[in-house]
Amino acid sequence: MFDLMGYLAEQRAKVDAELDRRLPTAAERPARLHEAMRYSVFAGGKRLRPILCLASTEAAGGAADAALAAAAAIECLHTYTLIHDDLPAMDDDDLRRGRPTSHKVFGEANAILAGDCLLTLAFEILADTPQSGPLAAELARAAGSRGVAGGQYEDLAAEGAPPDPDRVRYIHEHKTARLIEAACRMGGICAGAGGAELRALDDYGRSAGLAFQIADDILNATATAEQLGKAAGSDAKRGKMTWVAWRGLDGARADAAELVLQAQRALDKLPGPTEPLHAIAEFIVRREA
Ligand code: IPE
Ligand code: IPE
Ligand code: MG
Ligand code: MG
Repeated sequence: MFDLMGYLAEQRAKVDAELDRRLPTAAERPARLHEAMRYSVFAGGKRLRPILCLASTEAAGGAADAALAAAAAIECLHTYTLIHDDLPAMDDDDLRRGRPTSHKVFGEANAILAGDCLLTLAFEILADTPQSGPLAAELARAAGSRGVAGGQYEDLAAEGAPPDPDRVRYIHEHKTARLIEAACRMGGICAGAGGAELRALDDYGRSAGLAFQIADDILNATATAEQLGKAAGSDAKRGKMTWVAWRGLDGARADAAELVLQAQRALDKLPGPTEPLHAIAEFIVRREA
């Protein structure tokens, strides 16, 4: 049987080493800003998106190491979204990855700058890869107003409004699924994948990404802050338009389970080993943090 925990630990170590190599050291001026960037990146995230990128490269028939730089870039960009998501002007949260949020430790201005610098660094890293153009285009589309930032806009605009199915889906597909989808496609691009393979990775990433945000909504409603390393119960308090607010806990669980199956079905069209992607799809809804 496929050892997912062993696989995740091994890939996480590779991603962390690449990130350490790519981020400026905290000794370099401006030291406090570099310290803030490293503080959030190395606070211990799951590294799910970079690992999906590496696993997608393998599933498309490439060698995982060909996607290491892209994987590091995706994690930098993801960490920027977390720092900004926690700001007082957005979700106003005090805890992230088990530590006080960036603005709590470094102040709001430095948290904004640390986020800006991680976003920028992501594209600097991609510029240094053989497929720089297609990879940068993919990540930019996923992060901008038609992607994560657009989803974040709608997430905030919808606070306090009664759940609307079309709007919940828009929020989740954009604030979360788009980046997960891009991580999978970028893995495919690093393997030189063609159109049909990229579409399969896209289908996998979209379903797995939506399931991931539904699971995040379920955890926010059912787990503790200690378990999550971030706020719990905050979605209901802020009147967030979540999948749980729309469908209830049981409905959300059923939808997430169906999306996992959909994601797994998309893997049939890929030429390389797909056990990791298959197992990660299940892990996304089984996880406890
Ligand atoms: C948190 O993502 C933000 C969401 C899109 C729900 P993760 O749960 O992947 O956070 P880390 O990277 O493990 O901290
Ligand atoms: C996460 O949305 C999406 C991004 C950070 C882009 P949430 O606000 O629901 O995620 P958490 O619960 O704070 O991690
Ligand atoms: Mg948010
Ligand atoms: Mg948040």
